[in-house]
Amino acid sequence: MAIDPTSPVPKYSQLRDILLDWIVETGLSVDDPIPSERELGVRYGLSRMTVRQTIDLLVSEGKLYRVPGKGTFVARPKIEMSLALASFTEDMRARGFRPGSQDLLRRVVPASGGTARAMGLPPEAPVHHIERLRTADDEPMAVERSNIPVDLAPDLDRHPLTGRSLYSVLEQEYGIILDSGEQTIEAGICDPADAKLLGLPQGSPVLSMRRRSFANGRCVELAISRYRADRYTLHSRLDPRR
Ligand code: GLP
Repeated sequence: MAIDPTSPVPKYSQLRDILLDWIVETGLSVDDPIPSERELGVRYGLSRMTVRQTIDLLVSEGKLYRVPGKGTFVARPKIEMSLALASFTEDMRARGFRPGSQDLLRRVVPASGGTARAMGLPPEAPVHHIERLRTADDEPMAVERSNIPVDLAPDLDRHPLTGRSLYSVLEQEYGIILDSGEQTIEAGICDPADAKLLGLPQGSPVLSMRRRSFANGRCVELAISRYRADRYTLHSRLDPRR
């Protein structure tokens, strides 16, 4: 395919689609190099700046990655996240990854006004505040910040969660089986602290998720999670309208 100079679609965007098709058609696989920016410029009659804009876009979309001094390569496909009330551990295992968890911060705090309202708790009720780095095959994937009412899981702070699933600790130690939940997902930007934890440049895109999960009508967890947008995509089945 060639660039259409009469098209209203910007050239960098046309080149994006052409390159993605080309990668599939030529059978390039993960970690294979793509031609240099100069070669692509010559091949498609585009300025180096336009080619760079396309590569930047494909890198930010997680389709390509750069290695300084070496070139640009085909990235791994993103991980599809199901929109179910699954734990990170279950979700990663189902996709063939080795899940991991590292405790970053554990403390008991009075719930803030917003947290107490969202969880249906009295003002300033004590909650476990848990910050964790989640990994898949040892690669940082997400930073998760969970709040759990202390009255539901009194000595949860005595259970290290490094290398353990929070949902299975809740089930095994406290008999809490989550039975419903709701989740809001929005686009976000990595703040400097999360960027460092996730090993991303500052300002990288993230998927920001806010989940409330319930057991027997009580809110057990309010969690804000930041997932790397370069490694994750959301997938949901669409049923016909009733
Ligand atoms: C998901 C949710 C979190 C929840 C976690 C539990 O990642 N977004 O809100 O805390 O699962 O996962 P695990 O049981 O593996 O700790």
